[in-house]
Amino acid sequence: MVKILLLRSKELEELLSPESLIPEIENAFVRYSKNETVTPPRTVMWVEGNWWGVMQSYVPGYGVGVKTVSLIPQNPSRGLPTIQALVTLFDGLSGSPLAVMEGGVLTALRTGAASAVSAKYLAPRDVGPIGIIGTGYQARYQLRFVSSVYKTEDVVIYDVRPDQMRLFRAWAESAGFKVFEAASSEELVKKCKIVIEASTTKEPVILGKWLGKGQHVISIGAHARDYRALDDEAITKFGKIVVDSRKAVLEETGDVRIPLEKGLIKQEDIAELGEVAAGLRKGREGDELTLFKSVGLAIQDAAAAALAYRLARSRGLGIEVEL
Ligand SMILES: NC(=O)c1ccc[n+]([C@@H]2O[C@H](COP(=O)([O-])OP(=O)(O)OC[C@H]3O[C@@H](n4cnc5c(N)ncnc54)[C@H](O)[C@@H]3O)[C@@H](O)[C@H]2O)c1
Repeated sequence: MVKILLLRSKELEELLSPESLIPEIENAFVRYSKNETVTPPRTVMWVEGNWWGVMQSYVPGYGVGVKTVSLIPQNPSRGLPTIQALVTLFDGLSGSPLAVMEGGVLTALRTGAASAVSAKYLAPRDVGPIGIIGTGYQARYQLRFVSSVYKTEDVVIYDVRPDQMRLFRAWAESAGFKVFEAASSEELVKKCKIVIEASTTKEPVILGKWLGKGQHVISIGAHARDYRALDDEAITKFGKIVVDSRKAVLEETGDVRIPLEKGLIKQEDIAELGEVAAGLRKGREGDELTLFKSVGLAIQDAAAAALAYRLARSRGLGIEVEL
């Protein structure tokens, strides 16, 4: 009889701390860039005008992870999160299902961990504020994870929705951060050392003319072929452009696809995070501007799910269900 473990969001929050998750996500990126995983491109489908993804990956040592995820920007007005998902983990050798877990928080945790790995290799040497454009669900995890690597208590925020900024500010202050509300993304970009874009924008919110020396930009939004978070000038200013997957960003975000098609950047200028972490490509040099652009990879879900499963088994957490 096959028994699976059901893991809820509160258990995942408890199990997947920055300290435990960041090294696993870094390792998964290295294995991905060395072609040691089996990761077909995700299946993207548009359902009733909204983005859905089915994402699968086998990461040796972790297992097979499969995630079904929807992204519905109107959901907050329904009292529901923008991103909802379920992740299933299977044993890579026997094929047995091992666990089913809440995928919304898992996605936010593993995305925060990827941004933190980028900060490990690309963050500025001097300390200053972290800025966050788009203070919704992902923003809290981005701040928690990135600030575990780039230590600062100063945070600058901007969101088109003042109510979202207020909620985020209350949370961040209770977590010990000093928060400044910027009046525009321009003001935020000009004030910060690390600029995190975690919004649902379709149009650029980071313009090249606002960027200065030595900043690190992390952009996790603009998840469709025609969406952009960065304008043409910004993309041409970076000394290093690092992405989660060259193949995926070319296919799935206008931030890379459009400038490449316009000839503003070249494919060989784009490094993968796993290549940087493996020492195959360089991290930050001097006070250059750097970019980490991600669209999200199934390897992250598989690695995070496997870690959660392993820790939950050893601590007796989760609900066991006989199939
Ligand atoms: N790269 C990855 O691995 C990954 C993983 C998960 C989510 N994401 C992306 O992260 C983004 C945010 O997701 P979420 O779950 O936090 O959504 P959310 O709806 O909870 O938050 C998005 C926030 O962005 C704000 N916003 C929209 N347009 C803006 C603009 N022009 N300027 C400033 N703020 C603006 C909204 O008001 C909202 O508060 C989405 O684009 C999603 O696709 C990426």
